[in-house]
Amino acid sequence: MGRVDNKVVFITGAARGQGRAHALRLASEGADIIAVDLCEDIASNGYPLATPDDLDETVRQVEKLGRRVMARRADVRDRAALKAAVDEGVAELGRLDAVVAQAGIAPLGPDRGPQAFLDAVTVDFHGVVHAVEAALPHLPDGASIVATGSIAGLIPATTDNPANGPGGLGYSFAKRQVASFVHDLATVLTARRIRVNAVHPTNVNTDMLNSEIMYQSFRPDLENPTREDALASFPATTGFGIPYVEPEDVAETVLFLVSDASQYVTGVQMRVDAGGYVKRRPQLPAF
Ligand SMILES: NC(=O)c1ccc[n+]([C@@H]2O[C@H](COP(=O)([O-])OP(=O)(O)OC[C@H]3O[C@@H](n4cnc5c(N)ncnc54)[C@H](O)[C@@H]3O)[C@@H](O)[C@H]2O)c1
Repeated sequence: MGRVDNKVVFITGAARGQGRAHALRLASEGADIIAVDLCEDIASNGYPLATPDDLDETVRQVEKLGRRVMARRADVRDRAALKAAVDEGVAELGRLDAVVAQAGIAPLGPDRGPQAFLDAVTVDFHGVVHAVEAALPHLPDGASIVATGSIAGLIPATTDNPANGPGGLGYSFAKRQVASFVHDLATVLTARRIRVNAVHPTNVNTDMLNSEIMYQSFRPDLENPTREDALASFPATTGFGIPYVEPEDVAETVLFLVSDASQYVTGVQMRVDAGGYVKRRPQLPAF
């Protein structure tokens, strides 16, 4: 018996990184997957996004685990495309039990202009709303909605780091909206026992973190910081003094939230941050 046997889970940003890790962990516990990813770059984002080959690799690895997967290229900013992908996935796989809305970008950089702010908000926040909108008509009572925020959305925005620029502000703004949206949606869906929870990771060892713009964000004191330079700063983000968690660590929390083990857990802001939030001694958030 798997922990999510025969559930069908719709995952955005599934081509690589955390999205792929979630797909594989859920498949290893018996789920079938509707995998969606843009698979092309966004101009304001200073590092490459996933490729069609990455999405194919997710498909290959899910199938290797003996589960079914339907993959589509779609932009989470495009409501019609997301709806079409989910409708097709449900037609093929027969049902939908959960959503993991986690596609994201971090368009940091000092010279990227207001477009970077807007792109962060439309991908990282509107993209979550669109994924939920596309899934909701298919979700039965008792379903699970999981959205990926970030510790950046739970702590005060960094306004004094020129390396982050408008896209950095857009990122933390969008992630705050994710936290707030999850809270409000959870209240709306209690009557149907649909759980809505957020996962807020610290640094995760993916392409988003391992990018030059991220190295600059962590080492604004250096002109061309390397990963080695950034590695010296990464641990300051966590309380445990580790530089990052692995995508598979976050996938364990997502598995719990998708599984029936969390049937009475809703409206929760679940931090996978190795103590980064409590280290900052913030006020408890209002929601
Ligand atoms: N890596 C970190 O340090 C970190 C920390 C906290 C939160 N997060 C969040 O975790 C989530 C997953 O990021 P990751 O770390 O796996 O990075 P990643 O860059 O490896 O994965 C992001 C995925 O989203 C896809 N994507 C981007 N824009 C899209 C769009 N418009 N439509 C569809 N797909 C799109 C990308 O192609 C990529 O496959 C994001 O929401 C990110 O903000 C990451």
